[in-house]
Amino acid sequence: MKRPDGTRGTARPATAARQSPTHPSSFTKMWHDLRPIGRNADTGGYRRYAWTGADADCRTWFQEQAEARGLTYETDRNGNQWAWLGDPAAGDAVVTGSHLDSVPDGGAFDGPLGVVSSFAALDELRARGAEFTRPLALTNFGDEEGARFGLACVGSRLTAGRLTREAAYELRDADGVTLPQAMERAGYDPEAIGPDPERLARVGAFVELHVEQGRALDLSGDPVGIASAIWPHGRWRFDFRGEANHAGTTRLVDRRDPMLSYAETVLAARREAELAGALATFGKIAVEPNGVNAIPSLVRGWLDSRAADQDTLDTVVTAIEKAAREYAEAHGIDLDVVRESFTPVVEFQHALRDEMGEILRERTGGTLPVLGTGAGHDAGILSESIPTAMLFVRNPTGVSHSPAEHADEDDCLAGVRALADVLEGLACR
Ligand code: GLV
Ligand code: MN
Ligand code: MN
Repeated sequence: MKRPDGTRGTARPATAARQSPTHPSSFTKMWHDLRPIGRNADTGGYRRYAWTGADADCRTWFQEQAEARGLTYETDRNGNQWAWLGDPAAGDAVVTGSHLDSVPDGGAFDGPLGVVSSFAALDELRARGAEFTRPLALTNFGDEEGARFGLACVGSRLTAGRLTREAAYELRDADGVTLPQAMERAGYDPEAIGPDPERLARVGAFVELHVEQGRALDLSGDPVGIASAIWPHGRWRFDFRGEANHAGTTRLVDRRDPMLSYAETVLAARREAELAGALATFGKIAVEPNGVNAIPSLVRGWLDSRAADQDTLDTVVTAIEKAAREYAEAHGIDLDVVRESFTPVVEFQHALRDEMGEILRERTGGTLPVLGTGAGHDAGILSESIPTAMLFVRNPTGVSHSPAEHADEDDCLAGVRALADVLEGLACR
């Protein structure tokens, strides 16, 4: 079977799919056009970081798709892109979309699948002759992954008032470029950023389609599922400071090497997460001076930790920090721990979730599985302000945040149909 990325894979039945006018060509053409943008030829992974050239190309692609369909295109004060069908001022809009940026060497699907599916679902609804009774908007939220400035979901956090303008102005990338500088260089006015309650007041429901980042759907044999909840999660920066010195002349007993306490902390994180049934990952590290023949003066490691509930997450992170302080003290190392971001548990609104389930049950005759996730999403950030819901598309390996991330084309098209059904049920009554 042909995959959306042009490679070949094993065919699998789209069990909840039904006959429908979905044109693979609409989805496949968009997928093909977007595919080369920001793709690293050596790794095959995507490097679409906020406010870079690759991000600009993705944004141009979005605008072109909007204009080709006669939609009203706009960028909001926080750099999120919107494409409107109907009058935005009418209120109670149904909105769908996701993000186009990526983690370092990310996969093709995390984010783009939701954006491409939004346009494809609109194409399908037009082919069905659907008549809209509510405004519809398609969106691309900016900087969802936080790969450049360290904080995830910057676009939706700003819009929802969950990131202040002052805090956003403090964000810096690895080269010291601030978020407002990066926005300005990309041609956007950073003066305008901040909460956007008027915009959110126009939205009656936001539905985000996303590739599943686990194997629940593969195990249940369903191409599409509905999200129940997002685990609480956060990012903590651990700065271990020691003393730079010569690797060839400094006796081991005389060293204050922060790498040792960092390494021990990585092992403690794994141990504590296992004990609690949680997740803890050190996936990013910065070392100074970063020389092969120099004992480091600084090891900065970022902990990403997630758990099913807040108490468990607190317990795990507290235990990891306690262990890190003990190791640091034993090696004469100074340690600072800073919580850089935190997202509490999200329980998607039952009313919208149930309505979606009912719409899909009526149209497909089947019941979609409802599943939770440990991954963060704009739909989670927005859920405190407006009703949000999510659809997941089967990922046969569960791999995500990696070039190996994948979904079969048949499943992607089943996702488009499900999204079109949901939009039709919500916006075309
Ligand atoms: C976003 O994908 C996250 O969960 O980190
Ligand atoms: Mn992601
Ligand atoms: Mn995503």
